[in-house]
Amino acid sequence: MNILVTGGAGFIGSNFIYYELKKHPDDRIVCLDALTYAGNFDTLSAAMEHRNFRFVHGNIEDRRCVDKLFGEEHFDIAVNFAAESHVDRSVTNPETFLITNVLGTQVLMDACRKYGIKRFHQVSTDEVYGELPIDRTDLFFTEAAPLHASSPYSASKASADLFVLAYHRTYGLSVSISRCGNNYGPYQFPEKLIPLMITRALDDQPLPLYGKGDNVRDWLFVEDHCAAIDIIMRKGRSGEIYNVGGNNERSNIDVVRSILTALNKPETLITFVADRPGHDKRYAIDSNKVMTELHWRPNTKFDDGLSQTIKWYVDHEDWWQRILRDNYIK
Ligand SMILES: NC(=O)c1ccc[n+]([C@@H]2O[C@H](COP(=O)([O-])OP(=O)(O)OC[C@H]3O[C@@H](n4cnc5c(N)ncnc54)[C@H](O)[C@@H]3O)[C@@H](O)[C@H]2O)c1
Repeated sequence: MNILVTGGAGFIGSNFIYYELKKHPDDRIVCLDALTYAGNFDTLSAAMEHRNFRFVHGNIEDRRCVDKLFGEEHFDIAVNFAAESHVDRSVTNPETFLITNVLGTQVLMDACRKYGIKRFHQVSTDEVYGELPIDRTDLFFTEAAPLHASSPYSASKASADLFVLAYHRTYGLSVSISRCGNNYGPYQFPEKLIPLMITRALDDQPLPLYGKGDNVRDWLFVEDHCAAIDIIMRKGRSGEIYNVGGNNERSNIDVVRSILTALNKPETLITFVADRPGHDKRYAIDSNKVMTELHWRPNTKFDDGLSQTIKWYVDHEDWWQRILRDNYIK
């Protein structure tokens, strides 16, 4: 198999590349990444040593670059991680989200059609469903839940999903979509909740927490997510959406308290800040479809995954300190 991974210098994409190189060492992986602020070439340094890995610096909405790459490589599968992914940034600059997340997805699918690819897999999010009430713990998002995006980020992901399904229906393109909860694990850019709190706590900086910190997310360890995508893109039915949840619902404040306890830091570091506009209260995922059809399971309990993640950030201070320094300079 020759597999295109877009956005592979980011958090989930890089973990996915390492997962694939280990699980399917004979498959070829080509990473296309624009190396935006969120992309980090250092993350892929071990992959660069692998005989079946190629990195291409380029933009998914650059039709000429995408077309040339597809012409050279004749991919079997393309999996699209490339995106603007931070909700806060979408509140201040929605346009780049529309361009990358919607237009970029469409450009990739045009190339998939032209070069007769076997499967286009779109990595989406549970945020397309909007929010659930905190006090209705009996409610979960199924794949049939209506789209109800709250932020420009989730609106762009929902729009891209609609294009993916439309390309399947109109042109017969073989597609699948996975919608997952909040991921955590190694190589996550330190603007997202868990790495932000770990890195700030390690530096004894205040930990800014939105509102009362009572928003609930379903946390998914990144390796479990990679395993789900691997099965869905190879064996999932074309034209289908698969929800992928970790079965680990936690409020933000509970997550932050666990991090402080693990690092032996005081709770006085927590600083409540004005809530994010349109902040969704609760996400909770029903993953029955991927579990019954494709026999995927989330293997990592939240406490174990969080300990592994904290240890990774403690052991890889160079990695995140360099990112903080570079972003401060920019
Ligand atoms: N992180 C999560 O918790 C989460 C949850 C649900 C869904 N997702 C989805 O998973 C995917 C990956 O998320 P992530 O957290 O790894 O994101 P990330 O921000 O860490 O990485 C995004 C990567 O895409 C690259 N990129 C951005 N614009 C590009 C463009 N125009 N062309 C080529 N490359 C470009 C960046 O350089 C970066 O390497 C995204 O589609 C996101 O919407 C993430």
